[in-house]
Amino acid sequence: MTTSPVIYCAAPDCGKETTSSLKCPVCLKQGLTSVFCDQSCFKRNWALHKSIHNKPGVERYDPFPEFNYTGKVRAQYPLTPKRIVPDHIAKPDYSANGQPISEHVSDRSGKIPINSEDEIKQIKKAATLAREVLDIAAASIKPGITTDELDEIVHNATIERDSYPSPLNYYNFSKSVCTSVNEVICHGIPDKRPLEDGDIVNLDISLYHNGYHADMNETYYVGEKLSKQAINVVETARECLDLAIKHCKPGVTFRSVGDIIEKHAKQNNCSVVRTYVGHGIGKLFHCAPQVAHYARNKSPGIMKPGMVFTIEPMINAGSYKDISWPDDWTAVTADGSLSAQFEHELLITETGVEVLSARNEKSAGGAVKRI
Ligand SMILES: *[C@@H]1O[C@H](CO)[C@@H](O)[C@H](O)[C@H]1NC(C)=O
Ligand SMILES: *[C@@H]1O[C@H](CO)[C@@H](O)[C@H](O)[C@H]1NC(C)=O
Ligand SMILES: *[C@@H]1O[C@H](CO)[C@@H](O)[C@H](O)[C@H]1NC(C)=O
Ligand SMILES: *[C@@H]1O[C@H](CO)[C@@H](O)[C@H](O)[C@H]1NC(C)=O
Ligand SMILES: *[C@@H]1O[C@H](CO)[C@@H](O)[C@H](O)[C@H]1NC(C)=O
Repeated sequence: MTTSPVIYCAAPDCGKETTSSLKCPVCLKQGLTSVFCDQSCFKRNWALHKSIHNKPGVERYDPFPEFNYTGKVRAQYPLTPKRIVPDHIAKPDYSANGQPISEHVSDRSGKIPINSEDEIKQIKKAATLAREVLDIAAASIKPGITTDELDEIVHNATIERDSYPSPLNYYNFSKSVCTSVNEVICHGIPDKRPLEDGDIVNLDISLYHNGYHADMNETYYVGEKLSKQAINVVETARECLDLAIKHCKPGVTFRSVGDIIEKHAKQNNCSVVRTYVGHGIGKLFHCAPQVAHYARNKSPGIMKPGMVFTIEPMINAGSYKDISWPDDWTAVTADGSLSAQFEHELLITETGVEVLSARNEKSAGGAVKRI
């Protein structure tokens, strides 16, 4: 998930890549990082820069004016300050310093955990709570709401369920949910961009409850102006995941999941992102197995009862290639085409598979007919 950070000078008349550590102190207090090459960039642009500091009446601005965006979505800062998690809520190891040490230890062993009956009970409880939070946030999606407002809804709903929002501070991620709009493939940071009629948006909810993580995401349509292309990519992603789930049972190889997904994507003129994979989940947010979503991959392992993992195909309307925004999180399609994703959390049982993150009849969103 981490790559070496590329940082751009926040001076509007500079915007060059920089390795400087000079940060605007006012921004830091507001939970933002604005890096400047040197004092000269900072002072020369102060009058302009200070206009971004929290002002009543809301100033929105693009923090990466020099960046060649691949599509129409722009980052819209300032980000809101980090939200507080009350002391009584149990927190994962990375909540203090951003480093999930226990995951690094598990990475080295590469073993796929087989969960006991009691562990499965806890995992199911966390998944049920995450589904509730996802449904609450999804019901609030409408043109005009900002992704930051969705973050606040997710954060509050998570805390009300005595749970920690897993994304918060994971490798220093600054928000409680990932919101990925249009050409954003994944890991979009909630900001001040209002959703527009015709957008598609993925909400990725994960939470930590009583020692166990849950993780699921869905892509939703915003408003009424659905384009033919948006419907095709979203419904193809939904179908890819459904087909992959039907295939899961004891004895099936993890690598075969990608063959099924890519075949269906191709039949619908879509491509499969290769950079991001599904993963084991439970006591750790991410652990073995890795589940790649493209054909002829080499993901090791065979499904056995008690394994819990996610399948989460990211499907693009154009090329499968992805690049990152300068925030070092937001992954977007390299050609600016739309991208959609669905993620379920699955338990392998003695006879097949159970979807721990299943929708219910009240869940917002859902499939629409292709036009
Ligand atoms: C952005 O694209 C333009 C035109 O293709 C190019 O001249 C410029 O160097 C690019 N900027 C960056 C920062 O890559
Ligand atoms: C979230 O919780 C905070 C603190 O309790 C409260 O001030 C805020 O209004 C809540 N926001 C929403 C959208 O419920
Ligand atoms: C994450 O934040 C901590 C302090 O909050 C800092 O020490 C650490 O360098 C940051 N890590 C990264 C990868 O930015
Ligand atoms: C969906 O969840 C998975 C697992 O955390 C994550 O890797 C992926 O990036 C999420 N998708 C989006 C669009 O955020
Ligand atoms: C895929 O693209 C081809 C060629 O552009 C077209 O003939 C076909 O109808 C498309 N299929 C779907 C399912 O959109």
